[in-house]
Amino acid sequence: MNDIATITHYHEATKHHPRRQARSLGYMDWATQPDPFRRFTGAQLTTLPVQETDDSPPYEDVFMPGKIPTHGLTLASIGRFFECSLAISAWKRAGDSRWALRINPSSGNLHPTEGYCLLPAMAGIHDSPGVYHYAPREHGLERRGEFPQAVWDKLPPDIFLVGLSSIAWREAWKYGERAFRYCQHDCGHAYMAIDVAARMLGWRVALLDTVGDEEIAAILGLDRADEFRANEEEIPELLIAVYFGAAQSATQAEFDNRAPAIPEDFFQGVADGAWFGKADPLSRAHHDWPLIHTADRATRKPGTIETLLPDDPGVGADPRTCPDLHGDHQVDHEQGFSAWQVIKKRRSAVSMDGTTSLDRQSFYRMLSRIMESGKNLPWPPKVHIALFVHRVDALPPGLYLLVRHSAMQGELQKATHDHFHWKKPTDCPTALPLYFLQEGNLARIAKTLSCVQDIAGDGAFSAGMIAEFQSSLDTFGAWFYKRLFWETGMIGQLLYLEAEAVGLSGTGIGCFFDDAVHELLGFRDRTFQSLYHFTVGGAVLDPRVSLD
Ligand SMILES: Cc1cc2nc3c(=O)[nH]c(=O)nc-3n(C[C@H](O)[C@H](O)[C@H](O)COP(=O)(O)O)c2cc1C
Repeated sequence: MNDIATITHYHEATKHHPRRQARSLGYMDWATQPDPFRRFTGAQLTTLPVQETDDSPPYEDVFMPGKIPTHGLTLASIGRFFECSLAISAWKRAGDSRWALRINPSSGNLHPTEGYCLLPAMAGIHDSPGVYHYAPREHGLERRGEFPQAVWDKLPPDIFLVGLSSIAWREAWKYGERAFRYCQHDCGHAYMAIDVAARMLGWRVALLDTVGDEEIAAILGLDRADEFRANEEEIPELLIAVYFGAAQSATQAEFDNRAPAIPEDFFQGVADGAWFGKADPLSRAHHDWPLIHTADRATRKPGTIETLLPDDPGVGADPRTCPDLHGDHQVDHEQGFSAWQVIKKRRSAVSMDGTTSLDRQSFYRMLSRIMESGKNLPWPPKVHIALFVHRVDALPPGLYLLVRHSAMQGELQKATHDHFHWKKPTDCPTALPLYFLQEGNLARIAKTLSCVQDIAGDGAFSAGMIAEFQSSLDTFGAWFYKRLFWETGMIGQLLYLEAEAVGLSGTGIGCFFDDAVHELLGFRDRTFQSLYHFTVGGAVLDPRVSLD
């Protein structure tokens, strides 16, 4: 089987059906529950400072290019960067149990995503450049490696690097074979959390998408097999350049997300440095899921030369076509939340109240922001959004579709039911490609499709993220499978934040009946596939959350 056939097989095998769920143990084996906090024994820990007061910008400013002054790269700003992206944000208690929640969400709160950074020599951290693992429980950086200044000097000025990896076992422990998908969603959520944290500091990020997974593994130390136990290895996922400093400040307004070129010998130079530490065990024993290893192998990305962005700037989402973001519908800063308030209070609703509605302009603004986020991808947006509108003021309840890449409207129209209307809703901004497909009360259907979870029907709206599946794999290769899921996770993270910004809540929904969703929309093949669902609404308060 070639890699595309292998990953397609994985995708089909891990679909949930009403009478047959994807394979998992089917119960929680508490004796092997993995530790959600990785530490490397033998790697020196530097504790990062935490912020005492909230001096973050208004949430809305985070998305306005050039609005936030650029912070220098210091121990304090790195502390802030991780505190606003991958840190613990609150604790939940139930009886004698207490567990941590984080800024970035994760399916089942299992947190397969590990964060790393490569930093220059810095006061308070180390006197030579190094590779660091972020330890959320300690809010600290563990020094995994160090390398010569001459190697660091091969990088363009005013950037540092952030890497993400996945420990699939943490997710597979509960979710079995479908876990590989959830790791990728979580990776997308973490990426967007990092993007927002960087913007809060006046920094910007770019996904280094020409880099191959082998190179990522080499500079994060993930290929040092002796330092990880079997089944607890980390899958290399993505590498991000974070731009800071004067150069970035000058160009911030025109930042176009093009990744900087990293010379080949940088990766070798880091790998040849000195390495410290060995990963602590996470579980006493493991249940092996060979299909996950197969999916991982099939989706490893080789190094590629070209970026995936077409030169034609007209292709893809263009924020200039979404004027409402910066016009009449902007949130009043006096009443709006600060960025820190929004990201810290982001929390998954465990249940929705079934009554709270969302005003139409806020709905349009959220969707415009999701359009705008498409511009920050190193590929043309591949994920569109089917919306199950339950309670949006003065919008008829029913099925809608947000087309995130205008060139795909015809394909979507062709692939969906003939009887869909494809009409712009009342006073929808002309530039927002939102289409009304069919009127109806979809609360019960949305709930049923989402593995019979009430949250999908009790919110103001829920969403199914529809990926251009077959053509993406055929065009780029099997490794693009992971990127489709990252893109859905990025959208999910934005929806979480946008919901909080208007006083509502969101919840990611990884459990849904894949082909039942496809049937509802009219899909007959794998041209489009729904990869992730989400709900936004008024949360029923969860008394288990505390902030200590
Ligand atoms: C990819 C993903 C899938 C999820 N799927 C579901 C789901 O199907 N049902 C549900 O109730 N919650 C779901 N959640 C919510 C998580 O359980 C929640 O994020 C986790 O418990 C951590 O809580 P927090 O989001 O409040 O930090 C999902 C979250 C993510 C990120």
